[in-house]
Amino acid sequence: MAVTLKTAEELEKMRVAGRLAAEVLEMIEPYVVAGVSTGELDNICHNYMVNEQHTIPAPLNYRGFPKSICTSVNQVVCHGIPSTKKVLKNGDILNIDITVIKDGYFGDTSKMFCVGDVPEHAVRLIKVTQECLYKAINIVRPGIRLGDIGHIIQQHAEANYYSVVRDYCGHGIGTEFHQDPQVLHFGKPDTGMTLQQGMTFTIEPMLNAGKYHTKLKKDGWTVETRDGRLSAQWEHTLAVTADGVEVLTARTDEQW
Ligand code: MF3
Ligand code: CO
Ligand code: CO
Repeated sequence: MAVTLKTAEELEKMRVAGRLAAEVLEMIEPYVVAGVSTGELDNICHNYMVNEQHTIPAPLNYRGFPKSICTSVNQVVCHGIPSTKKVLKNGDILNIDITVIKDGYFGDTSKMFCVGDVPEHAVRLIKVTQECLYKAINIVRPGIRLGDIGHIIQQHAEANYYSVVRDYCGHGIGTEFHQDPQVLHFGKPDTGMTLQQGMTFTIEPMLNAGKYHTKLKKDGWTVETRDGRLSAQWEHTLAVTADGVEVLTARTDEQW
C-alpha cells in the first residue's frame, strides 16, 4: 500500500473527523470513575458517536472487534475489549482509544485516565508516555524521517527506565483505519521514510513500566504486558504541513 498525500479538501475532512474523535474523549471524562464498567463507557461513547455526532465508531466489527471503543486497564497495553464485567476501581489507570469515521475519513486518538487516587509510579509512567508523544509531535515537519520519530520516543522512554512496546505501532490514516506507513516508536535517527507535506498518520507510543514484551489474550484482541506490569499509551492523528505539523485530534486547551 502506498502512502497517500492528502489534498486541502481531504485535510479539511480529516480535521473534522479528528475534532470529533477528540470530543468523544472530552465527553467521556466525567464518567471515568470507580464503580463504572468499561462496558458502560463503551455504551455512552457509542450512543454519543452514533446519535449525537452522527459518526461511525470505527472499531465496531473491525476485523471482528466486538465493541465501539478500546479500553485498556492497568497491564493491558492496547485493544482492551469493553465489558460490563470489568468494573473500574480506585487506583486503576486506563487508556480509552476512540476512532470515528465522518464523511469517509478517520480520526484516531487516545488518552490515559486515572481512577481516583493512583500511585505515584503510575502517574509518572503516564506523564513520561505523554511527553514521548509530545516530543515526537514537536519534531514533525517535512524533511524529517520516521526513524527520527522512533528515536526521540525511545530515547525519552529509556532515559526514564521504561521500555517501548515493539509489537504495535502508529500508522498512516485517511479513508482507511490503517494505511502506510508504519510509524515505529523506536528507531535510529536519519533512517526510514522522509516526511512530506500532506502525509497524515498517528503517533501512539505504548510504554511499559517493565519489559517491552507483550502477550495476546485468548479473546484474540486484548494485549497485555508479558510481565504483568503497567502500560500507558497516548495517541494523536497528525498532518504534516508546509513547515511543521497540525494535530488533528487536539483537545481543547491541550498544549504540546
Ligand atoms: N485505535 C487503534 C489504533 O490506534 C486500533 C484499534 S483496532 C480495534 O490503531 F479493532 F481494536 F478497535
Ligand atoms: Co491508531
Ligand atoms: Co487508536
